[in-house]
Amino acid sequence: MKSFEPGIGMTTNKAPYIEEVRGGDALFIEQPYELYSEANHDVWRRLYSRMLPQWEKYANEYFMQGIDNLVMDPGRVARLDEVSEKLQKLTGFRAKAVAGYIPAYKFFEALRNRVFPTTITIRDAEDIEYLPEPDIFHDIAGHVPMHTDQAFADTLVRFGDAAHTAAEMCASMPDEEARVRCMTSVIKAMARFFWFTVEFGLMKAKDGSGLKVYGSGILSSYGEIEYSIEAPEAQRYPAQLEWMVNQYFEIDKYQPLYFIVDSFDHLFALTDELIVWMKEGKLNNVSPGEPHISEADLRSFMEAGATL
Ligand SMILES: [Fe+2]
Repeated sequence: MKSFEPGIGMTTNKAPYIEEVRGGDALFIEQPYELYSEANHDVWRRLYSRMLPQWEKYANEYFMQGIDNLVMDPGRVARLDEVSEKLQKLTGFRAKAVAGYIPAYKFFEALRNRVFPTTITIRDAEDIEYLPEPDIFHDIAGHVPMHTDQAFADTLVRFGDAAHTAAEMCASMPDEEARVRCMTSVIKAMARFFWFTVEFGLMKAKDGSGLKVYGSGILSSYGEIEYSIEAPEAQRYPAQLEWMVNQYFEIDKYQPLYFIVDSFDHLFALTDELIVWMKEGKLNNVSPGEPHISEADLRSFMEAGATL
């Protein structure tokens, strides 16, 4: 392994460390904390300080509780080992660094083992408003506070179970073509359900005072958090599994449509139902369209299925 100058930077798409480790065999990598530059820390500080009032206004109470429990430094990029130490005591989850994209099955399998694959690069100051790919602010400040809640954490494990069931079920199909067709449809259904819940979900406020945000894609977006709750043109409907698994989505604009759950127990029950539907074959032919299922994601499920 090459050594890098401290403070060289861990900026999205411009991090020499990531270039070096990407393509290696290891799924999980180290977080070389000394490589973050002052500019990286400054971006974290700016993102955090402007999100805080928005979180106080729009985030669900479990998220705010999570922010309190994790005691992150608002002025410095989070350290994964410190976050994991606190998180593990609460729900058994840990945040472990990855070099970027990991194949979908590996991601869900990690969730099943209470490991959250975490991006460690941080967006460039120029992209402070929006970055389509995850960065450490999205993953740690957007996702991880939710993982401190038991019911939510258990739901993520159920997502892992769903992927396991999918791989196993499609592997039992008689021929290669049927396996690919089944797997592509089931992964699409899962990706859509994940998107409309974990990434962009809304929930009823506990005290009955309207809606709150729990989706991490919204919790890490300065503009969308307000839009998702306030914009008259955004559509907000009670979560319906049959709709979510058949609804396409786009990742590069504010969402036109959000689904509302009553509670995390409700979300857990929906995830259970997803698995029941999967076993019944009800997800084998969902409507076409986004998201596109990549060859690598498909292969990851097929390979897992072959070994189960
Ligand atoms: Fe995310």
